[in-house]
Amino acid sequence: MSMPNVPLQSAMKIDLKWARAQFPSLKQTVNGQPAAYLDGPAGTQVPQRVIDAVRDYYERSNANTCGAFATSRRSDAIIASARTAMADFFNCAADELYFGPNMTTLTFALARAIGRELQSGDEIVVTTLDHDANVAPWRALEERGVVIRQVDIREEDCTLDMDDLRRKITPRTRLVAVGYASNAVGTINPVDEITRAAHEAGALAFIDAVHYAPHGLIDVRALDCDFLACSPYKFFGPHTGCIYGKREHLMRLRPFKVRPATDALPDRWETGTQTHECIAGVGAAIDYLAEVGRRASVAQGGISRREALSSAYRAIRQHEMTLAGRLIEGLLQVPGLRFFGISDPARFAHRVPTVAVRFANHTPLEAATFLGERGIFTWDGNYYALNLTERLGVEKDGGFLRIGIVHYNTREEIERLLEALRELARGG
Ligand SMILES: Cc1ncc(COP(=O)(O)O)c(C=O)c1O
Repeated sequence: MSMPNVPLQSAMKIDLKWARAQFPSLKQTVNGQPAAYLDGPAGTQVPQRVIDAVRDYYERSNANTCGAFATSRRSDAIIASARTAMADFFNCAADELYFGPNMTTLTFALARAIGRELQSGDEIVVTTLDHDANVAPWRALEERGVVIRQVDIREEDCTLDMDDLRRKITPRTRLVAVGYASNAVGTINPVDEITRAAHEAGALAFIDAVHYAPHGLIDVRALDCDFLACSPYKFFGPHTGCIYGKREHLMRLRPFKVRPATDALPDRWETGTQTHECIAGVGAAIDYLAEVGRRASVAQGGISRREALSSAYRAIRQHEMTLAGRLIEGLLQVPGLRFFGISDPARFAHRVPTVAVRFANHTPLEAATFLGERGIFTWDGNYYALNLTERLGVEKDGGFLRIGIVHYNTREEIERLLEALRELARGG
């Protein structure tokens, strides 16, 4: 298995006090306890500059695009600037990405356009580890006679069964759809290796990076993937989605679009009016991350935004995985707790700090409610990773309890969570 692009060495230190001060919502309390946001995988909090960018858009620039007047021109400039920021985030050209309401909607639309090129009997490979937003859009093509082949997992550590993946890719495979990291159990998939395997078979590689994006630097050029999707609301921005696509595909494929919309990139993919205020916030979120990186880097001011993002993710990774180490060590000592996924610190390079557990005497909903009353926000259920909860036999019993760490979380929050879970296990 190849190593993911998230080295634990060459650490940089996050300025945690400064970072937390950027997020107004972190000051909230619940029943007298500070809110501990361990619900990041369902959507992260936003820093003040994102809130300001959205408000400022409404106050000064609110208009539709391409009009011959001041607010429309400002709107165009804000969107162009956010697109450049997003291009730095992906490491692609600004016209190789497009925005839309969310990853799910964008993926259904892309799958529909790709489906126009497919014949009955063509195959698409999906996985058991993926969120349904990277399964259902491809399964929808079964109506056209497309055959879906699903890669299994290794149950003992919730990693992809790579032998099964190689078996499922055949000369009829046209696309391999795989997640960068699991939103349920935190496994990082070897997406570079999977992209190569897809290309060797003459197939396209579609990567769902929604869950990976807050935790690791994305580099679509290095990956050489054909498409990659993410959702800025999972990495400190507003509720939007975004897709990278190689220019040749974005130009060749025929998206379903209205006639007056131009055929140029990215217009042909951005159906209807976008959420301009949210796109303004995406630019601010990426600039926030770059600032995290500048503060962590010795070079500080003299580095490009892309370099600053790279520093940010090194610092984020170091902080998150230190917390994850303590979390997993503590969880494994909670009586009656069942842990899903990679727990051995020696293999942490293959996971992000998102963990899934179950309890002997409490459903995941009971545990999440117990924690929620103590101001600790976690999630219960399947989080739409339905193939996985069904495969592991936990779907009918309430799925998992998911604890998701992002960079604004603290050691104190992890200790509070562990203490609460010990209390729950004692019958609290
Ligand atoms: C891994 C993963 N993929 C896809 C999605 C769907 O993203 P969106 O909410 O932008 O449609 C999610 C949302 O939770 C996710 O975690």
